[in-house]
Formats: sequence, C-alpha cells, structure tokens
Amino acid sequence: MIISHFPKCVAVFALLALSVGALDTFIAAVYEHAVILPNRTETPVSKEEALLLMNKNIDVLEKAVKLAAKQGAHIIVTPEDGIYGWVFTRESIYPYLEDIPDPGVNWIPCRDPWRFGNTPVQQRLSCLAKDNSIYVVANIGDKKPCNASDCQCPPDGRYQYNTDVVFDSQGKLVARYHKYNLFAPEIQFDFPKDSELVTFDTPFGKFGIFTCFDIFSHDPAVVVVDEFQVDSILYPTAWYNTLPLLSAVPFHSAWAKAMGVNLLAANTHNTSMHMTGSGIYAPEAVKVYHYDMETESGQLLLSELKSRPRREPTYPAAVDWHAYASSVKPFSSEQSDFLGMIYFDEFTFTELERNTGNYTVCQKDLCCHLTYKMSEKRTDEVYALGAFDGLHTVEGQYYLQICTLLKCQTTDLETCGEPVGSAFTKFEDFSLSGTFGTRYVFPQIILSGSQLAPERHYEISRDGCLRSRSGAPLPVLVMALYGRVFEKDPPRLGQGSGKFQ
Ligand SMILES: *[C@@H]1O[C@H](CO)[C@@H](O)[C@H](O)[C@H]1NC(C)=O
Ligand SMILES: *[C@@H]1O[C@H](CO)[C@@H](O)[C@H](O)[C@H]1NC(C)=O
Ligand SMILES: *[C@@H]1O[C@H](CO)[C@@H](O)[C@H](O)[C@H]1NC(C)=O
Ligand SMILES: *[C@@H]1O[C@H](CO)[C@@H](O)[C@H](O)[C@H]1NC(C)=O
Repeated sequence: MIISHFPKCVAVFALLALSVGALDTFIAAVYEHAVILPNRTETPVSKEEALLLMNKNIDVLEKAVKLAAKQGAHIIVTPEDGIYGWVFTRESIYPYLEDIPDPGVNWIPCRDPWRFGNTPVQQRLSCLAKDNSIYVVANIGDKKPCNASDCQCPPDGRYQYNTDVVFDSQGKLVARYHKYNLFAPEIQFDFPKDSELVTFDTPFGKFGIFTCFDIFSHDPAVVVVDEFQVDSILYPTAWYNTLPLLSAVPFHSAWAKAMGVNLLAANTHNTSMHMTGSGIYAPEAVKVYHYDMETESGQLLLSELKSRPRREPTYPAAVDWHAYASSVKPFSSEQSDFLGMIYFDEFTFTELERNTGNYTVCQKDLCCHLTYKMSEKRTDEVYALGAFDGLHTVEGQYYLQICTLLKCQTTDLETCGEPVGSAFTKFEDFSLSGTFGTRYVFPQIILSGSQLAPERHYEISRDGCLRSRSGAPLPVLVMALYGRVFEKDPPRLGQGSGKFQ
C-alpha cells in the first residue's frame, strides 16, 4: 500500500511546484523591425564591421525591448534576419556568425561572457533580457566547425545555421533552434541533419519555436503542436507577402486558429520587398496585427494571451474539413471551367456569373462548393471560385488542397489568381467548403486593402464550412481554405528541386 501511495505524493508535489508562480495570462510582444541592411553582402566584411552593423540593429531592438518591458510584457519576439538582413553568400555571412552552445550548458552570457569564446551578440541579447526581466527571442547565425570525419561536412569546414535563440528573464539561454526548412534563396545556410523539436516551459505556458518557411511543414511545426502540446509558438519570420494566398497576417492567423495555439509572429519590415505583417494570434481570435505598406518604420505590438489556451472553455473544437462538403450534392450549373495560375500552381476556376448562386468546382479529389450572395453584380469586377489539388514545386515542394474565392485582377479571366489590392463588390452571404483529405486546413478571408475580415462576421462550423454570420456586406478580396496534405509531401521541404534550382 505504501508503494502505491508514493507516486501520488510525488504527483501532488509536482502539481504544487508547477502551480507556484504559474500565470493564467501573460503579455506577449512582437516587434516588426525595419532591418538596417549591410552596405556590402557579396564579399565578406571584417568581424568588426559585421558587429558594428549588428549593434546598430540591436540598438533599435533594445528600444523595443525596453518599451515592451515597461508595459509589462513577459516575452518579446524579434524577426528572422532582424540583426543583419537577408542577402548573403556562405562566405559573406560568416563574419556575422557566433558559436551558439546547446542551452543544456546552463549559460547566462551577460554574467559569463567569455565562457564560449567571443560571443558579443549573445552577450548583448542576454543582458537585454536580464536587465529588463523579459524573455527575448531573436534570430542570429550559428557556426559549427566540422571535418572529414563527418562525410557531410561542407568543403569550408563548418556548418552555418539560421538560428533562433531565446534568453529567459534572467538572461539565460533557454532555447536554440536551427531552421529546418530553409527557403530556396537562403544559400548562406546549411540544412540541419534532423528536425529539432525545441520546446521549453515557463510560468506562462509551454512554448515551441520555429522560423518562417517552417510554417508550411509537418516537421517541426505540426509536431511541436500535436505531439508536444505547446501552448504558444514563437515565430520569427522574414516574409514577403504574395497575394492572393500567401500574405503574412491572414496566413499566420489562420495557422494559429487551425492548430489551436497562440502564435507570436514578428516580421521584418521592408515595403519594397513587401515585407510587413506581424501579429499576436490566439486560437479563438486575432489579438492584434500590424500591416503597413506606407512607412518605413518598425512597430511594437502587445497583447494579453491565455497561458494555456487548451484549458479554456473558449478553446475551438476540432473541425472535420470533409464532412459538410461531402454531404452536399455538387451544384450543377451551366458553367464553363477554365485554368489559371496562383503562385505557380494551376487551379481550375469557374466565374461567378450573377449576384447570387451556387457553384461547385473540382480538381482531382477535391471539390469546392460555394453558395454566395453579392449586394450587386458589378460589371467592372469579376470573381472566380477555384480548386487546386496537387504538389506545389517552386521554392520547395509541398502538397496542397485549396478552395478559394477571389477577385480577378481585371475583368479578363486570364488574370484570375493574379494579385489585386482593392474590391468594391460586397458579399452579404457566403458559404465555402471542400472535400478535403486532410485536417490541416487554414481558413482565411482578406478584405479590400489587405485587411483581415473581423471574426464576428464569419464562423467555421465543426463540419468544415466557412460561412458568413452577420449579414454585413464584406468587400472580399480573397477567401480561402488552404489545406496541407503532409503525407503526400516529398521527404523534406526546400530540398526538392524547385523550378529555380
Ligand atoms: C553604409 O555606407 C554609408 C555611406 O558610406 C555610411 O554612411 C553608412 O554608415 C554605412 N552603413 C552601414 C550599415 O555600415
Ligand atoms: C574532427 O572533428 C571531431 C568532432 O568535431 C573532433 O573530435 C576531431 O578532433 C576533429 N579532427 C581533426 C583532425 O580536427
Ligand atoms: C529593402 O530591401 C531591399 C532589398 O534587400 C533593399 O535594397 C532596400 O534598401 C531595403 N529598403 C530599406 C528601406 O532598407
Ligand atoms: C442555391 O442552393 C440553395 C440550396 O442549397 C437554394 O436554396 C438556392 O435557391 C440556390 N440558389 C441559386 C441562385 O441557385
């Protein structure tokens, strides 16, 4: 009997220990940073020059960290490439890199700066965290020497990794994550051999971390959520928006909603590269976002989040993305389908001919159903319903199933799928669904001017239908159910031979 009691006591103690200092909510901050870029990136600069540039960026980040801490933030996320920019060769990035140890070494760089050689950037980030009592998340470059004893060692004798680091409020290095799914142009970095599943616990929930293009992947993005059951994701990104389907704010907020986690997304800011769109997203709501194509300034965002959203009564139920659409009899109308491209993928489209109607459009195994009502059918704007079921092969290979309703760029049907910025047509009612073969479907609605549709205006039913709720007319630019079919992916994203490689 004594033996059987023992584990219970341990469990009680463990619970007590966990609940001490535990917070039900916390304040999250993200900083959209207009990165100061190096003057020269084709040929290597000296280490001193590299550090000078990085310190200029950290000076800006420091102001944001201080301001966030003053407003009570517990954690702040800064963007991918936020300390040195993004256009480099293998050689020209090298002076910017530091050896970043495994967090298991238990290191506070601010207290012990020389323990792992010359690491001024880690020291400064650690001091920022410690001096302001805030978790600081940043993206820097790691270098790891290797030699012929490792047959994958690059000819220059080192691995170079795109790396996220997290320093806790005492300045301790608590997480290091090497980006697994590099984007094709990131020739300055190596792919890590294995996907790293980096998580850590805090008094305000369990965190996972990954970077930019990783969000399209199963490893590590889906794994840290589904298997490690994290509460919040830290997400540094350098994301250039490409309408209609791949804009930062709509895509990231849809991911948070579909995956049921908080997502703290910090983007770089550079309007000529279409880089803007940061936000703090909860599973049940977009808390705050920033999208700015007008100025060249950075922006700090703060919002309160639930530490453990899964335990909340408002936590969204799982959606069956197949149920509704497969119960609908395909609408048969006198439609003539046509083909059109969205970001290198060939969709099957059909035009919405009248101010109200029902359409079904299919491609391979996916059928998309739409029922809609416009306030009026304008002659100067054309909308189409599109379906795509196939492998995307440019800048990485990943399998998609997508249903989308979008405004064509002009009244010429050949432009359906091309980016367009504004819309005057208003949709009073809509219902969009598809016969998806995956439960990973990210629903997004973008309104004229790249604004997010407020959540009160629509709902996602448990049987997988995206429908209007309020009857308020919405100037829809794009509406999409963006599905990822991971089991049909080739082995690793980004390593496949894309069109440009
Ligand atoms: C780039 O060059 C300009 C002009 O020489 C100089 O003023 C500026 O400080 C340099 N910027 C960086 C980041 O080194
Ligand atoms: C090669 O690398 C391994 C592991 O990093 C190290 O133990 C070994 O000493 C190195 N050998 C040489 C010849 O540098
Ligand atoms: C934005 O990025 C481009 C390309 O890297 C660069 O040429 C430009 O100077 C950047 N703009 C600003 C304001 O830094
Ligand atoms: C669309 O379908 C619904 C039933 O699902 C029907 O009530 C409605 O009349 C149809 N609308 C049009 C314009 O065909």
